[in-house]
Amino acid sequence: MTLTPHAMGTAMPRPEGPEKVRGRAPYAFEHPAAEPLYLFPVQAAIPRGRVTAIDTSAADALDGVVLVLTPETAPRLSDAIDPDHGVLQSAQVHQYGQYVAAVVATTSETAREAADLVRVTYAQEPHVAALDEDSSELYGPDTLVTGAPADDTRGDPDAALAGAAVTVRATYRTPMEHHEPMEPHTTVAVWEGERLVVHEATQAVSWTRQALAGAFGLAEDDVDVVAPHVGGGFGSKGGTHPNTVLTALVARAVPGRTVKYALTRQQMFDLVGYRPATIQHVALGADADGRLTAITHDVVEQSSRIQEFVEPTAAFSRGMYEAGARRTTHRVAPLDIGVPTYMRAPGEAPGSFGAECAMDELAGALGVDPIELRVRNEPEVDPEQGLPYSSRNLVACLRRGAERFDWSRRDPTPRSRLVDGWWHGTGVAAASFPVVRFPGSEARVRAARNGALGNGAGAPRYVVEIAASDIGQGAWAALTAIAADALDVPVERIDLAIGDTAFGSASPAGGSSGTTSWGAAITEAAERFRDKYGDDPDDGDEADATTPDNPWAAEYAMHAYGAHFAEVAVHADTGEIRVPRMLGVFAAGRIVNPLTARSQFLGGMTMGLSAALHEESVLDDRFGHVVNRDFAGYHIATCADVGRMDVEWLDEDDPYVNPMGSKGIGEIGIVGAAAAIANAAHHATGVRVRSLPITLDAFL
Ligand code: MOS
Repeated sequence: MTLTPHAMGTAMPRPEGPEKVRGRAPYAFEHPAAEPLYLFPVQAAIPRGRVTAIDTSAADALDGVVLVLTPETAPRLSDAIDPDHGVLQSAQVHQYGQYVAAVVATTSETAREAADLVRVTYAQEPHVAALDEDSSELYGPDTLVTGAPADDTRGDPDAALAGAAVTVRATYRTPMEHHEPMEPHTTVAVWEGERLVVHEATQAVSWTRQALAGAFGLAEDDVDVVAPHVGGGFGSKGGTHPNTVLTALVARAVPGRTVKYALTRQQMFDLVGYRPATIQHVALGADADGRLTAITHDVVEQSSRIQEFVEPTAAFSRGMYEAGARRTTHRVAPLDIGVPTYMRAPGEAPGSFGAECAMDELAGALGVDPIELRVRNEPEVDPEQGLPYSSRNLVACLRRGAERFDWSRRDPTPRSRLVDGWWHGTGVAAASFPVVRFPGSEARVRAARNGALGNGAGAPRYVVEIAASDIGQGAWAALTAIAADALDVPVERIDLAIGDTAFGSASPAGGSSGTTSWGAAITEAAERFRDKYGDDPDDGDEADATTPDNPWAAEYAMHAYGAHFAEVAVHADTGEIRVPRMLGVFAAGRIVNPLTARSQFLGGMTMGLSAALHEESVLDDRFGHVVNRDFAGYHIATCADVGRMDVEWLDEDDPYVNPMGSKGIGEIGIVGAAAAIANAAHHATGVRVRSLPITLDAFL
């Protein structure tokens, strides 16, 4: 089924916006409870070893302390859980900052003071926390990157490189980065008998429920997870981390009492995931006309010893351009540090930095315009799957951006424009992100003609329930519009309910998949509803559906595309780097809500700017911890760092992706943004910076 858009494509303010700006939209920590208790953890001060003793006497004696839990006194968890979910289950320490004890008190201040009084002694063991690509201990080709093989080779890339007219070989590096949404990770947990009720800052109420049910050996039906509003996620709130399990564990020891735990900003750097550092060896070979004959993208990157997570960094190079031969590999260093996780465009964000900078270097080596080089290597079919594209408008994005950015007037010579003491340059990079559909989201449509929601004899209202998450991307608005179009009624007659496992299972706000996965389920439920009851239903009539499979999945390769343009200014004396102008042009199917979509693209581009110039978690490998673990040390682009930023999208009609014709837009804005800035910095100064973030010392 393909929807006819009425609400879709029309700018729609966030329905929850007024409540948010009045401070009335409840975020997890604000969930009211009678006499809540507050948790503060004690964290390991060694990267690896064993706790030999914990002295809680001073903490126990503090007025207001209810309980101090240690591995010896904590309730037991099920064994069948993620390695880092086994909080307070053993004396083993596998990372600096790991939870080794927890205090519960009547105020958060008391809990924090008491945690400080807990004395822990350790037997330390040798650890490894430095990313060393020559290490003998790297996970090999049998590791998996998001379900796909770590290695993928077509043809003989080394022979093709040896025979190429022009080659570029370079190593690119991206740092460890941490997600820092405005709202830290938060859990509010209470046990009501054998039921666990959790208010959580999460991108995925169902995944949280699944993880907690597993940890405590419960049926999923015995766990409620609620998250109507979430103050940003970026991926770290997709998976479940030790903080959530710890809060539920502590709550189990005080039955009937509500326990609240909000991470401090510093704790956000310890236990809730990060984007791992990457080392990327990229080689491109081309014939004299600039047609690629070989691509190799060989990656070494960080992971954790206790749990494998492989950033799919080189995956970007598998599908972007046509080349006769190609190799992509991932090798992973298992370090004694926390477990990495998905962070906005996992794989594509760091991988596009290496791949799209290398394309710029190749353009320079060939003397071909970097846009023209990309146009010449546009594939006929998807190089990874061998399938035709459902739609691919990268070239149109590049051409439109070139027009708006006055690309034709650009002098390609690096270091040729000095204005008032600043070297100016412009750069371009391409972006792509797959169209992801997760299975298993349950949607329900119910007619409400009477009572609080209905209006008696008048037009029916429709309650639409789905356990989707709005982490700021605008799901409340987008899903309301989709439901309205699927039911063929105005948006005013839709009452959407999301963010609660009471509505069943749903896939996460992640992988830029939300609108596709949830929207397809809502559309299916609406279709069944109308088949059954028509457009004049009785009060209480209802129908439900689960996300259908995409019938075109095996026929077409499906991706969104984009082109980033950046202008960079580098101070001739100080090396200070500024980005006065960015433009992103995207082709991402139908844009469901232009208002919030623009924000998503802008947010992605801003995060790309931030990665290009600011963000870097500095890991002290002597201790295995991040030293710049706050906003004073971990720099994120502020308004003052963002110049003029423009977003445009092309109309794209894609009948294959989903009933809405939409592609995901949450992540593509960051993909390629840092490369465009690095390429512009090279054009400005003649200095090629291959390591992020780009700081002024590179130009001195
Ligand atoms: Mo995102 S990194 O897909 O939550």
